[in-house]
Amino acid sequence: MTDIIIAIDGLSSTGKGTFAKRIASALDIPYLDSGAMYRAITLYGLRSGIIEWNGEIDQHALQEALLLNRVELSFVKGKDGESRIFLGDEDVSLKVREMDVARNVSPVSAIPFVRNFVDEQLHRLGSKGCVMDGRDIGTAVFPNADLKIFMVADASVRARRRVLQMEESGQKADYEEILKNVQERDFQDSHRAFHPLRKAEDAIELDNSDMTVDQQMVWLDAILRERFSLSVL
Ligand code: DC
Repeated sequence: MTDIIIAIDGLSSTGKGTFAKRIASALDIPYLDSGAMYRAITLYGLRSGIIEWNGEIDQHALQEALLLNRVELSFVKGKDGESRIFLGDEDVSLKVREMDVARNVSPVSAIPFVRNFVDEQLHRLGSKGCVMDGRDIGTAVFPNADLKIFMVADASVRARRRVLQMEESGQKADYEEILKNVQERDFQDSHRAFHPLRKAEDAIELDNSDMTVDQQMVWLDAILRERFSLSVL
């Protein structure tokens, strides 16, 4: 076990989570999925009526819920070794992937007090070493991360991956709708005022449009060996 902090940022559905999980398991360090935290807060908002059917958010009520610790987020390692996200004592790992959450999460993640809330949790959980994925990990959450990776891939490749992921977990998936959602989220994530998605100056870009996860591990292994004398193979 090492105390290295690896920040993985990039466009939505570039396979950050899949890559991060493989790295975390190879290095035996926690994997923290910051997107799942924004999604769980969004799910809480939808269920409690704080986010209305038309997408309108009652920011005052959301802030109060966060301040009063009504949104308790935690990660638990499941029997399969997968990291699962809990909202209170409910495992919401699958629920947070559903389309109604995906449709509403970008505006929620653009709210500064929501970002501060998530950042605090990430610091609490990750400062002793972790692999963390998101949009602003290398630029805002852990600007001193030991290694920063910025992932990109073609939008059509990413939409197909998302379709497969949803079908594998038994959910219905519509390619055109998902492609639109991927493109809209790219735009919203990189154009918001507070902590927009952007590549940190010292991040290494990885375009995995034509790469398998095994190939990504080989790519990373060379970097880790050279810089940190660590291996993930
Ligand atoms: O990675 P994801 O699709 O699960 O992320 C869900 C949403 O949360 C997405 O719209 C971007 C946003 N997000 C963010 O703004 N900052 C992060 N560090 C992680 C996710």
